[in-house]
Amino acid sequence: MPRPIVRVGLVSLGCAKNLVDSEIMAGHLHKAGMALTPNPEVADVMIVNTCSFIDAAKEESINAILEANQTRGMRRRHGKQKLIVAGCMAQRFATELRTSLPEVDAFIGLDQLTSIAPIIEGLLEKDRADNEAPENFVTPQPRFIPDFDTPRFRLTPSHTAYVKIAEGCNHPCSFCIIPQMRGRHRSRTIESIVAEVRALVAEGVKEFNLISQDTTYFGMDRWEEKAGPRALVDSSRGDSLTALIRELQKIEGDFWVRLLYTHPAHWSDELIQTIADSPKIARYVDMPLQHISDPMLDAMRRETSAQHIRDLIHRIRAGIPGIALRTTFIAGFPGEKEEDFATLLKFIEETRFERLGVFKYSREEGTRAAKRDDQVHPRTKQSRWVKAMALQRHIALELTAAAKGRRIRVLVESPGIARSEADAPEVDARVFVPDHLPVGEFAEVTVTSSKEYDLIAE
Ligand code: F3S
Repeated sequence: MPRPIVRVGLVSLGCAKNLVDSEIMAGHLHKAGMALTPNPEVADVMIVNTCSFIDAAKEESINAILEANQTRGMRRRHGKQKLIVAGCMAQRFATELRTSLPEVDAFIGLDQLTSIAPIIEGLLEKDRADNEAPENFVTPQPRFIPDFDTPRFRLTPSHTAYVKIAEGCNHPCSFCIIPQMRGRHRSRTIESIVAEVRALVAEGVKEFNLISQDTTYFGMDRWEEKAGPRALVDSSRGDSLTALIRELQKIEGDFWVRLLYTHPAHWSDELIQTIADSPKIARYVDMPLQHISDPMLDAMRRETSAQHIRDLIHRIRAGIPGIALRTTFIAGFPGEKEEDFATLLKFIEETRFERLGVFKYSREEGTRAAKRDDQVHPRTKQSRWVKAMALQRHIALELTAAAKGRRIRVLVESPGIARSEADAPEVDARVFVPDHLPVGEFAEVTVTSSKEYDLIAE
């Protein structure tokens, strides 16, 4: 008798990097003849791909695991659904979670993404005793990085794709736990990325969102130490973001490429010039700055200074006309004084970022910043966050109102809704367009008015 198809439910939390990991697991499930199901009640296996960036993300992940276990309770009379926890929380806390979440059948990390199918087979073949601890497949310091031919089943709309150009991070930011989960920075080769983008262009993808922990660090992990300081992205030293952009620009087809997660320490004039010379690179740059006061940048260990950031923004705006800058700041970092926060507000007011997010500092166990004894009171954090958000709202509304009459190119997301070059998926604004424009295609429209952060166009 043929074996019934294994049905797998997948809950993907966290950022786009985690989403690509979910896509890689989905690709390997398909390759092994297993099927994804949107209905947890009929799944033989549930996978929860977790995030662990800040407390709120951990809580969401735990809730998703508990919810998956509850559905399993409803299904128990039909069979034995297995529960797998993957992603950043599993990578970092599997040992502790084995005790606190005994209802989980297995924990897997980044290095197990491509062996998800045999892991599932093994779990399904085995009857686990009630008192048996969950299996822990996680290996410390993950090394995995996808290649162009890594099986992948995309979970985004067919016209847009995330391309993970590197994994891991070598920065020492004192608030961030991600390097402890994702390991050291490791870049793919330019050939591998170009092969992936070429294949996706042939499939009709119109937008590529390049992601990694630090996109500007691309290739630098392979530069020889003897080549000297690694401060700037300079293509003469081997693979670099500038060299990658030049190769992507050569690919034929109508698409745009968006650079997400760049770090201010690694921008160079060559990178600015290369973007300016490459029409396929969206006039949009995501560059999380976190703060602008020097004492805060030092305490955050951002490897950059206020003067460098101010100069860089000036050079980017002068060198790439029409660029939209997205950034994020942290309010209430340990030791943040009133004058540090006032400097930040003034900087936001003067710079008028096209896109900006503010986060309240979250004290993450295992980070340097968490150990500091000058933590900011939650009420102060909250009030600073409210002030920064209110200021940006005011700026954003002025910027959207000023767009009236502008002719822009948009990518239609769904009937009547599009995104401009200045809008990354999930995080930015929308452009309301006529319903008849074909979904998944570019269109030229004229902005007629605005509604909050969104534009209305004809
Ligand atoms: Fe992303 Fe969350 Fe991990 S933000 S890198 S899924 S901790």
